[in-house]
Amino acid sequence: MKAHSESGASRSSKRSISASLLVNIGQLLTLRFSTSSSPRRGPELKNLGVIENGAVLCMGGKIVSVGTTKDALRDPWIRKHGKKITEIDCSGKVVLPGFVDSHTHPVFVAPRLVDFEKRIEGASYEAIAPAGGGIRSSLEQVRAAAKTVLAEKVLDVLQDMAAHGTTTIEAKSGYGLTTESELKSLEAIRQAASRWPGTVVSTLLGAHVVPKEFQGCSQKYVEIVCTDMIPAAARRKLAQFVDVFCDKGAFKAAEAEQIFEAAHAHGLSVRAHMGQLSETSLSPFLRFKPASFDHMDHVNEADIAPLAASDTVATFVPGANYFLGLKDYPNARRLIDSGVAVALATDYNPGTSPTLSMPMAMSLACTHMKMTPAEAISAATINGAYALRLADRKGSIEPGKDADLAVFAVDDYREIPYWFGANRCTMTIANGVVISRS
Ligand code: NIG
Ligand code: FE
Repeated sequence: MKAHSESGASRSSKRSISASLLVNIGQLLTLRFSTSSSPRRGPELKNLGVIENGAVLCMGGKIVSVGTTKDALRDPWIRKHGKKITEIDCSGKVVLPGFVDSHTHPVFVAPRLVDFEKRIEGASYEAIAPAGGGIRSSLEQVRAAAKTVLAEKVLDVLQDMAAHGTTTIEAKSGYGLTTESELKSLEAIRQAASRWPGTVVSTLLGAHVVPKEFQGCSQKYVEIVCTDMIPAAARRKLAQFVDVFCDKGAFKAAEAEQIFEAAHAHGLSVRAHMGQLSETSLSPFLRFKPASFDHMDHVNEADIAPLAASDTVATFVPGANYFLGLKDYPNARRLIDSGVAVALATDYNPGTSPTLSMPMAMSLACTHMKMTPAEAISAATINGAYALRLADRKGSIEPGKDADLAVFAVDDYREIPYWFGANRCTMTIANGVVISRS
């Protein structure tokens, strides 16, 4: 373990030290990688930078040093300040970077149980929407809800996700679909985030679906998104990203491009739901440098090489395939083996993926998409961080990065996706603060 800067250490020793030292870690997955400053691709996804019997020192919300327990216990600074350092024994545990869940829709009021039963009886996701179900059926409650009520709902979700090892969460609006209710949803995310020590990234998804008031004249709604919602969200700094659901039954490619133009004109970065139900040509969108294309069940062969040459991350959300009872899952192998950067996320939402658990998403990726446990872990951590443009701070355990750590009560990291449906996360630390413990 490399000693950290003495001057930094002595400066903080004059104040009170708030340092934690995780020791005796059975497997410490650092995800550090010497040369990469772009998302991990192909064989790189398998490199977890494992340290056996590892140790991590955190101070002031940052990771200070990373190495073996033996070296940490010999470190002069650690020995000198031992009494003031909180030691956390991680014997028989795996420690990895807190998960980065780069795709969630937490601002809704109620689960969609009628749709759930209809699908069990045989109706498809696409058939339920025109019959009054789907995204549109969540709008009324969100429009009527007080901001504080929505904020409480979001905060509950953030805390539940933390209990499963997640420390960074992208949260979308998208169940209001009026300027007022979309801004209210984004404000609810901000309010919840201010009460949670983890990290939240907000996304405006005003273009989730065409609300029924605009059916048959989607262009009028797109105008509102472009000239009202996006400028207001940007002006009030309520969102870092703009997302579009580009698919049959939602927005067309030309509408998505128009929305991306407006986002860029207002200084916001873009991401999109792509290829969930049908194929859309992706290459024309690459000029907008989207942070991610999410779902990616249907991808045209011609798009794979340009995607692999870009830093746009393909984010898989297999919870949606699972919950909709689909036989097919995205072809992760084809994308990974072609050099496309891939991430995994929960897509937490009331319609297609009501799961808070990144380990569950990883398990599905292993069993149904033939990703290895190591690939799934890289996709759920460092590449999720790239998908949110936060990789300089998140996604790996390296000195200088944020102290975001998940502790699992397992001997081997492969057990994280193996024990599906069980939560083996025993502690989560976000920005140096213990946010969940069991
Ligand atoms: O990612 N596809 C669009 N959005 C969500 C579903 C939203 C809903 O059904 O409420 C998704 O699957
Ligand atoms: Fe989604």
